[in-house]
Amino acid sequence: MKINKLLAGLLTSVTLVAGAAQAAELSIVSGDTGTGLAFLQSELDIFTEQTGHTVTIVPMPSSTSDQFGQYRLWLAAGNADIDVYTTDVIWAPQLADQFLDLSEAAADVIDEHYPSIIESQTVEGKLVAIPGYTDAPALFYRKDLLEKHGKEVPKTWSELHATAQEIMDAERAEGATDLWGFVFQGNAYEGLTCNALEWVNSYGGGQIIEADGTISINNPQAVAALEEAASWIGTISPEGNLAYMEEESRGVWQLGNAVFMRNWPYAYALSNSDDSAVKGKFDVAPLPAGEGEGAKPSGTLGGWNYAVSKYSPEPDAATELALFLGSAESQKRRAIQQNNLPSIQALYQDAEVLEAAPFMAAWEEIFQSAVPRPSAPAQANYNEASSLFWSAVHNTLSGNGSAAENLELLEVDLEDLLN
Ligand code: GLC
Repeated sequence: MKINKLLAGLLTSVTLVAGAAQAAELSIVSGDTGTGLAFLQSELDIFTEQTGHTVTIVPMPSSTSDQFGQYRLWLAAGNADIDVYTTDVIWAPQLADQFLDLSEAAADVIDEHYPSIIESQTVEGKLVAIPGYTDAPALFYRKDLLEKHGKEVPKTWSELHATAQEIMDAERAEGATDLWGFVFQGNAYEGLTCNALEWVNSYGGGQIIEADGTISINNPQAVAALEEAASWIGTISPEGNLAYMEEESRGVWQLGNAVFMRNWPYAYALSNSDDSAVKGKFDVAPLPAGEGEGAKPSGTLGGWNYAVSKYSPEPDAATELALFLGSAESQKRRAIQQNNLPSIQALYQDAEVLEAAPFMAAWEEIFQSAVPRPSAPAQANYNEASSLFWSAVHNTLSGNGSAAENLELLEVDLEDLLN
C-alpha cells in the first residue's frame, strides 16, 4: 500500500517535470465583444490542461479598427511578445507577410472547414490563419412588440422605417419614452463599413470596389441606400447612434429600448441571458432588402481567425494553440456558449448546437451568400479604402453633405488611393 502510494507520487512528479520541460509560455492578443474574452480564457484553461502550455491574454479594445492599427505597428516592429493574433477576416491580405504559413500544420483538418472561409484566409497559397468562427449579421426584432401592434417582420428598409416609427410612436405615447425604433453600428469605424456595405448592396448598388478592382460606389442605387439610412437618424434611431459600435447598440437593445437592432450572432446568446430585459421576447431574421432594380437582402461577411506571428519564439506551441482554438471541439463550445457561427461544416448538423442556437440552421446559408468587403481587390490599401468609405457614410448620416456629393468625392479619393 505504502509502496504503491510512493510509486504513484514519484510517477506524478516525473510526468510533471517532463511536461514542464516542454511547456511554453504563450501570449494571445484579442479584442472582443460581450463575454468573448471570458470565453477565450475558459478555452485557454482547457488548452493548458491538455498541453501544459500556459497562455496569457493581451486584451484589446473591441473596435476592430483600433486593433488593426495596433497590430500593424507591433508586427512592423517585429514584436516577439505576442505569439498568436486573433484576426479579422479582412486582414489576411494586409498582414500575410507577418504570419506563418499554417497550411502544412492544418493539412489534416482543413477539409472540415467551409472552403470559402479557408480561401478568405489564404493569400498566394499561404494559409495565414486558422478560422475560429464566421459572422453574418441579423435583424433582431421584438416579437412581443410586433405582435402587439399587428406588424410583420419588415422585408425592406423602408418597411422597417415605417414599422419602427409606428411602434415607437405608439409605445412612447403609452409611456415608454426611452424606446427607439432601430439601432445599428453608426460610429466611424469598420463596423459602419459593414452596415453601409449591406445597405448599398441590398439596393443593388454593388460592393464599393468590385472583385476586378473597379471602383463602383458612385452610383444611383448607392445614393438611394445612403439617403434611406440618413433618414433614420433623429427619427427611428437616436443621434447617439452615430457613436455606437456593436456593444453600444446591444446595450440599448438589451435594456428593452429598441424595436429593431442590426447586430452579429454573438448578441443572440447575450440577449437571452438572465439579466436581459428582452430575454424570450425577440427573434432574428435576415436583414431587409433595398428597393429598385437589383434589390435583395444583403449581409456583410465577418469572422475571426487565429494567426501565428512570424516573430514568435515558440512557433510550434503557438501553432498548436491556433489549431486548438479553431478545432471542432472548441468551435462547438463557442457555438453553444457564444452563439458564434462555426466555420466547421458538420457543426450545422449538431443537435446540441442547434438547440442552443436554433437560428443557426438558417444562418448557414446566410453566411455563405454574405457579401465580402473588398479586402481582396484593395489588398494592402483595404484599411485606408474602408476608412474613406466609412467617413463618407458617417458624413452623410450626420447631415454633413448629401449622399450624392459624398459618394462623388469618395470615388475621387478611392481612385487616388488605388490607381
Ligand atoms: C464583427 C465581424 C468583423 C467585423 C466587425 C466590425 O466582429 O466579425 O468581421 O470587421 O464586426 O465591427
